[in-house]
Amino acid sequence: MKNGEIVLDEAIQGQALSSDNNSTGSKKMYLESYGCQMNFSDSEIVASIMKDQGYSVTDNYKEAELIFVNTCAIRENAETKVRNRLKEYNAIKRKNPGVVIGVLGCMAERLKSKLLEEEKLVDIVAGPDSYRDLPNLLSQVEDGRKAVNVILSKEETYADISPVRLSKNGVTAFISIMRGCDNMCSFCVVPFTRGRERSRDPDTIIDEAQQLYKDGFREVTLLGQNVDSYLWYGGGLKKEFKNLSPDEQLQSVNFAQLLEKVASVNKELRVRFSTSHPKDMTDEVLHMMAKHENICDYIHLPVQSGSSEVLQNMNRGYDREWYLNRIKSIREIIPGCGISSDFITGFCDESEQNHKETLSLMESVKYDFAYMFKYSERPNTQAERKMTDNVDEKSKKERLNEIIQLQQKHSFEANQKHVGNSYKVLIEGTSRKSDAELFGRNSQNNVVVFAKGELKPGDYAEVKIVDCTSATLIGEVL
Ligand code: 5AD
Ligand code: SF4
Repeated sequence: MKNGEIVLDEAIQGQALSSDNNSTGSKKMYLESYGCQMNFSDSEIVASIMKDQGYSVTDNYKEAELIFVNTCAIRENAETKVRNRLKEYNAIKRKNPGVVIGVLGCMAERLKSKLLEEEKLVDIVAGPDSYRDLPNLLSQVEDGRKAVNVILSKEETYADISPVRLSKNGVTAFISIMRGCDNMCSFCVVPFTRGRERSRDPDTIIDEAQQLYKDGFREVTLLGQNVDSYLWYGGGLKKEFKNLSPDEQLQSVNFAQLLEKVASVNKELRVRFSTSHPKDMTDEVLHMMAKHENICDYIHLPVQSGSSEVLQNMNRGYDREWYLNRIKSIREIIPGCGISSDFITGFCDESEQNHKETLSLMESVKYDFAYMFKYSERPNTQAERKMTDNVDEKSKKERLNEIIQLQQKHSFEANQKHVGNSYKVLIEGTSRKSDAELFGRNSQNNVVVFAKGELKPGDYAEVKIVDCTSATLIGEVL
């Protein structure tokens, strides 16, 4: 998920995860992850829990005795992809009955025991809050039983678990700062699959960031479904600041304060975060970003639609005017800040006129980058229960194509504006196209490619941009 690329559906790209630093375990586990960054981060927690049971992660499923698929339920096509994958693994199991297959994450939570009982596709079903129970679930399977735990928790944040880092570059890492979501956007399955919102103890977040820095990492991304509503007050479900007791208020830490704590771990450690919510993003957070050079000047602020009417139907908690005002604040407080968004086309009752308002909002914001999706109705959501999925498939597709084309133009124009400028780039690895080139990102999250020279991943380089495509900036090291 790199800035500058037009990504149609990141949720259906599965990724086999493996790690170099946990080869101590004698038993092999294959771990495949779908969906959002939070899911990838969860897989690192699963790897840690299973490492304590003697499992190491392999990227070759053929040598694995345990296969976990960490799934996404956000759109129907994400689920279809996973279902097909599970059928493939099931065929392996028929040849080698000793292999245990587990489905984790959001689809496990949504379908619960259906995957075990009706479809007989898997041995273990574990929802996002039950990963501590995996060793126990595994022993149930070893005793010849099918095992399921989809209980959602009010407290679980896996705060004390040190994730096994599965990202390959050793430079960038995710830190989960909260779990669940209380927003109830009418299209979204997440509140049902990931449960209620709760924030993680900031001390454990700082410890994790310090450890990552010591281990050579140079960038952390703080993850939550709605990071702006992060509020630590001692643990438990989300509360508003005004509802905290005087004691809780005293020890409370909000998102802006957390950002400052993490940014203070080391000036050489970059801090990013995702995802921000337009209704909750405060100027306090923007000022904190402006204050610390190592908090990156980049905000992913999903708008979903440019029409106030549609936003109301989506239960987003803001209208077009409010959103544009948030953009104005970003531009004022953090000049040059990279901004990206998510869009859904063809939501219930979306008219041609509503769609045009999305195009006009895109014209006025001119995003650097966007993720764009067709509306996909999800079982049990408010939209499924109370509205009608009444925009025909052809219109959904046409509208999606229109916003993709416009975004591509904007991404290219935005990239062209960087040509001639110089940026501090954190190097992440070797370019996909050539071993003689490295790639990294600037603070604004643009991908920059340049000649290798004496540099290596984890280094910072001052790079002058000399050319671009719609996806990448091409630079020369100064
Ligand atoms: N259909 C299509 N896209 C969706 N998203 C969330 N739910 C749906 C759905 N039912 C998109 C939103 C969100 C992103 C993670 O996925 O744009 O911001
Ligand atoms: Fe998919 Fe949402 Fe679950 Fe992430 S939280 S895996 S995007 S359904």
